Amino acid sequence: MQLLKEALSRFGAIYGRAAEAADVVDHTAVSLATCGATGWPQVRTVLLKGYDELGFTFYTNRHSRKGRALAENPRAALCFHWAPLAEQVVIEGVVTPVAESEADAYWASRPRESQIGGWASQQSAALETREVLEQRVAEYAARFPEGEPVPRPPHWSGYRLAPVRIEFWRARPGRLHERDVYEHTAEGWAYRLLNP
Ligand SMILES: Cc1cc2nc3c(=O)[nH]c(=O)nc-3n(C[C@H](O)[C@H](O)[C@H](O)COP(=O)(O)O)c2cc1C
Repeated sequence: MQLLKEALSRFGAIYGRAAEAADVVDHTAVSLATCGATGWPQVRTVLLKGYDELGFTFYTNRHSRKGRALAENPRAALCFHWAPLAEQVVIEGVVTPVAESEADAYWASRPRESQIGGWASQQSAALETREVLEQRVAEYAARFPEGEPVPRPPHWSGYRLAPVRIEFWRARPGRLHERDVYEHTAEGWAYRLLNP
């Protein structure tokens, strides 16, 4: 556990620098790779909403393509690349849904427009025309009166990726980059350097 703490502390230091860097557009943006029952890898960007020793949290539509992949196979990976910092962190782990109360709390913090969007979008399903989506937005905007809380859709929630492997990469001259990895093994957390 000490090594996991160390890895998270290192992640936190880089994440903090990325947050401060004027030339990092959004330090929370991260590639999320999943692999459903077919075995085909899938990847897309999500926003990291928090992390601690339990894992790394993001929010989405559970009926989306990624939601379906995660239901079939909860193993997933996150890849952060903060180009201006020349840093990459790759985290592999096992994903579980966040508690309903946690999802409620985050949902409540979202702007009303995003909440209406969360109801209106059947994320990843085919869309006939843009007008169909706009119509659904109008319907949900009318259904939930302005000024009153918008309830969280049952299909909209979060996932927490509990890490089993955290790899740090830092650019160095001559492509002799620094790589090191914290990995959960049968004996507990282990640490080692890797060739670039
Ligand atoms: C910068 C950025 C941030 C995004 N953040 C999220 C997010 O937090 N949650 C989400 O569901 N989709 C997010 N998306 C959209 C996803 O990349 C993706 O298009 C969507 O979730 C559908 O993915 P899927 O069909 O693989 O499930 C984001 C896209 C970008 C470019």
